[in-house]
Amino acid sequence: MSYPDIRPRRLRRSPAIRRLVEETRVAPAELVLPMFVREGLTEARPVASLPGVVQHSRDSLRKAAVEAVQAGVGGIMLFGVPETRDETGSAGCDPNGILNVAIRDVVAEVGDATVVMSDLCLDEFTSHGHCGLLTPDGGVDNDATLAAYAEMAVAQAAAGVHVVGPSGMMDGQVGVVRRALDAAGHQDVSILAYAAKYASAFYGPFRDAVESALEGDRRSYQQDPANLRESLREVRLDVAEGADLVMVKPALPYLDVLAAVRAEVDVPVAAYQVSGEYAMVEAAAANGWIDRERVILETLTSIRRAGAQIILTYWAIEAARLLRERY
Ligand code: PBG
Repeated sequence: MSYPDIRPRRLRRSPAIRRLVEETRVAPAELVLPMFVREGLTEARPVASLPGVVQHSRDSLRKAAVEAVQAGVGGIMLFGVPETRDETGSAGCDPNGILNVAIRDVVAEVGDATVVMSDLCLDEFTSHGHCGLLTPDGGVDNDATLAAYAEMAVAQAAAGVHVVGPSGMMDGQVGVVRRALDAAGHQDVSILAYAAKYASAFYGPFRDAVESALEGDRRSYQQDPANLRESLREVRLDVAEGADLVMVKPALPYLDVLAAVRAEVDVPVAAYQVSGEYAMVEAAAANGWIDRERVILETLTSIRRAGAQIILTYWAIEAARLLRERY
């Protein structure tokens, strides 16, 4: 007689049986690569706080987009960094603004082979660094900002983008963008709503990547990290306003939110593994403190397991390669 009768370890005995019973798999096609394009560059420039991530020139962006497609990633999310900024972020709406030019470049290069997405927000384009237009007393004016987002969405759609990602957390932004796109004949452009976006300190390195001018913080429009039910309200509103996909951001510190959002709605749910999540792993790995590749795959698997069907990650190309070796 042996004891115990029930031995879960039997299903962990070999790599083959572990692979057979694996519940969660990440596919390269579910990964989306965020990419930065900086106006006026002639070649790519590294971002110090994001080792391995660069600000692209228009040329290097096109080449890197091809590389991403060849690696099998499911999509690309574009962020523009303009040379000059103004109070209203006018370069975001300008057809010749860096982001709109980059959308045209990338769509022409790989537009049939992947999903091209663009960040729809003013913070990269405003001299004050806020995601919207300011009131005379320095607050962020929700409804004036909506009009700017509508114009920006139409400019991005005209440049050929497949999916716009409103990320400013203004009330009503998804509805306004949907109506503006439809009125301009862009019914086929989808909306990926940054529905549950927290006022997170994990965005630090991103601010370097876009040379953010922000002083202060975004707590009057992004969500308080303490709140979960508020996310469900945001997500329900965005779906009602016409969001095709919803996103939770950041990812790893908010897996409970991700699981709750997954249970709440039936549109595809995305998660954004943000710059600070990436930088923490890279920094620990550079010190030899963790096994970098295993940690990368473990974080992506955890985010997938919690309920994300799509993951935005700066490791998209490398992770796609690691996953191909594994399966
Ligand atoms: C706003 C935007 C931000 C990020 C993506 N879109 C910055 C912010 O809200 O402050 C952060 C992404 C990251 O940290 O990787 N345009």
